[in-house]
Amino acid sequence: MRNAVIAAIALGLVGCNRPSDPPAGHDSKNMPGHTGPEGHDHEASKERAFHAQEHEEQAQAFADHRGRGHHKHHRFTNAAEWTAQFDSPDRAVWQKPDEVVAALKLTPGMTVADLGAGTGYFTMRLAKAVPEGRVIANDLEPDMVKWIGERAAKEGLANVTTVEGASADPKLPEGLDVALMVDTYHHIDEPSRFFGKVRDALKPGGLLVVVDFKKDAPEDAPGPPAAMRVDDAIVAAHLQKLGLTHERTDRELLPYQYLVFMRKPG
Ligand SMILES: C[S@@+](CC[C@H](N)C(=O)[O-])C[C@H]1O[C@@H](n2cnc3c(N)ncnc32)[C@H](O)[C@@H]1O
Repeated sequence: MRNAVIAAIALGLVGCNRPSDPPAGHDSKNMPGHTGPEGHDHEASKERAFHAQEHEEQAQAFADHRGRGHHKHHRFTNAAEWTAQFDSPDRAVWQKPDEVVAALKLTPGMTVADLGAGTGYFTMRLAKAVPEGRVIANDLEPDMVKWIGERAAKEGLANVTTVEGASADPKLPEGLDVALMVDTYHHIDEPSRFFGKVRDALKPGGLLVVVDFKKDAPEDAPGPPAAMRVDDAIVAAHLQKLGLTHERTDRELLPYQYLVFMRKPG
């Protein structure tokens, strides 16, 4: 199993379609079928519990592998090119951004981080959801950070602050109520160091939500190829090892992605 994970990581050096790639299929006939909420499917729960140890080992292998610098994610250097893909109106059909933001149960004064914010697809929506609070938009790429700053100004959203992070340090201020990471977990080179910093920046009781592509979504679903997708149980096991509590995983809200909810103990 460990070898399979390493092979998957080695294959998965590209995470998203390049801007020049044709848009991935959004045809509703490609939507995976659902057999009922994951958390309520007894057999599925048993299966997942049974493999918990294996997932932990995979999570460790995943983190170790990246920690040794074997994984190099591709860069997102040019925001003007990526916006066509990230901000495409077609994306809303499966990304359901308003439903994702609603699932965070934000209140108007909260401080929220958008981790790996890209061109600000979620940042702008989060900023509208916390009009008396603040959104910290973090990205590794200077051009993404600049783009978000300009976009927030154009959209009249004064409560957005941008932060250019480092690979292993998002450089967040302390006191976050919520941190959201969308379609980015599989790109993080040093996840243990990175999420250790996220944990430290969260308030006691604060929430981290990771949204990423389901391992078992169809190969032609939007997002990275299946070999590069990280199973939600691996994400939860990895973040648990860092001291966060796994509250729940939602595999029903979105057709191709899961949402993993992790809470910093209060
Ligand atoms: C696929 S995009 C997702 C953008 C955005 N979250 C969205 O949903 O539209 C991944 C983003 O993560 C950023 N990224 C990758 N590694 C990062 C890291 N270690 N810290 C911060 N951002 C990172 C990339 O520069 C890119 O903008």
